Amino acid sequence: MADDNTDTKSSNQMWGGRFASGPDAIMEEINASIGFDKKLFAQDIRGSIAHATMLAHQGIISADDKDKIVHGLNTILSEIESGNFEFSRQLEDIHMNVEARLATLIGPAAGRLHTARSRNDQVALDFRLWVKEELEKTEQMLTGLIAAFLDRAEEHAESVMPGFTHLQTAQPVTFGHHCMAYVEMFGRDRSRVRHAIEHLDESPIGAAALAGTGYPIDRHMTAKALGFREPTRNSIDTVSDRDFAIEFLSIAAIAGMHLSRLAEEIVIWSTPQFGFVRLSDAFSTGSSIMPQKKNPDAAELVRAKTGRINGSLVALLTIMKGLPLAYSKDMQEDKEQVFDAAESLELAIAAMTGMMRDMTVNTARMKAAAGSGYSTATDLADWLVREAGLPFRDAHHVTGRAVALAESKGCDLAELPLSDLQAIHPDITDKVYDVLTVEASVASRKSFGGTAPSEVCRQIAFWRARN
Ligand code: ARG
Repeated sequence: MADDNTDTKSSNQMWGGRFASGPDAIMEEINASIGFDKKLFAQDIRGSIAHATMLAHQGIISADDKDKIVHGLNTILSEIESGNFEFSRQLEDIHMNVEARLATLIGPAAGRLHTARSRNDQVALDFRLWVKEELEKTEQMLTGLIAAFLDRAEEHAESVMPGFTHLQTAQPVTFGHHCMAYVEMFGRDRSRVRHAIEHLDESPIGAAALAGTGYPIDRHMTAKALGFREPTRNSIDTVSDRDFAIEFLSIAAIAGMHLSRLAEEIVIWSTPQFGFVRLSDAFSTGSSIMPQKKNPDAAELVRAKTGRINGSLVALLTIMKGLPLAYSKDMQEDKEQVFDAAESLELAIAAMTGMMRDMTVNTARMKAAAGSGYSTATDLADWLVREAGLPFRDAHHVTGRAVALAESKGCDLAELPLSDLQAIHPDITDKVYDVLTVEASVASRKSFGGTAPSEVCRQIAFWRARN
């Protein structure tokens, strides 16, 4: 608990004018956000430089004061970056820590920086800038992950594996096709990221406490200087809005869900029972008691991080849902959720990119599994429709009988003698064996988006062009 600055009871130097004494130790502890919002230092300083520059340009502060402020802020930036800055919990948050230091460095001119702004628009700005950068980083990381999948898909465009529904063998597919399913998912995640960047690309600074300001500020100038498309249009909404953070968390939760499904598949595929993939030593661990084991810990942790990200999304939605307009201090709790989710998402994407690139694919095991479980039964039914003119429902029934027979004999469909098949339906000829192999099954599915290697290669080319 309160472990620093508890001895001092003087009122807050930034806002304590009307306060006779300082906060109770518990008040200080519950109120302070510096422990986590110090992460926003670079954004805070950038925002203040843009604001001070605009104030001078508009004649609200003098050029001389602006120069002192900008110089002081740059000094603080290098102090923090080099670890030579003492953060104080008494000063609550990053905004007041920076401003107090500025006062020490440049004297009374520092007091002019906070003209025409409030911590409400200041924190909205800092946090938006941070989330924007994080989204840009996420976009890049997803591009790297997609590239890893495209490489594996290209390598395995023809490698046959079982496709599952209900985790029961359904129809043969290619591993390349399966990889491309993830490319689609992560591609959608990336476009959600791009939309989110577009949504948040409005500058909050200048909304002040909630009502705007009487000073002749130029919000378009600060918006431009800070790389935003334009300023926000409603000052009340601006200081109340955390949609950008919630959107980030929603996107992270959806991407996390995709990563977690992949993690689950890797956990299953890497069991000795499946043996479809072998994780590299770099992305697995051993057991301290069972020497034979190679555990998919990284995949399991990706699966678990998803739970954390979901928790953050629900936490922030819940923090925000009952708040009257405009700013309430509840909103200070937004940052830890986003910081934690961002860290989890970055780690999960990086771990998955590494795992996908490094793992060894056992194509022989995949192919053997693809052939078991009567996975070409649909191909037999389709053959009966095509070659013997049966309605699909009848073909389905005939095929069901063939499967039952093969099951009773303990063999595959392709191993049933022609006489057995003809006893079930007289129009079956030996040409049927051409479609009962897994390769023929896969190659036949040339419909757009289907699993045929030719189609998978077309989809790979499409994504290569847009990655
Ligand atoms: N540390 C605060 C936060 O993160 C900054 C804004 C404080 N504003 C206020 N009116 N007390 O939300």
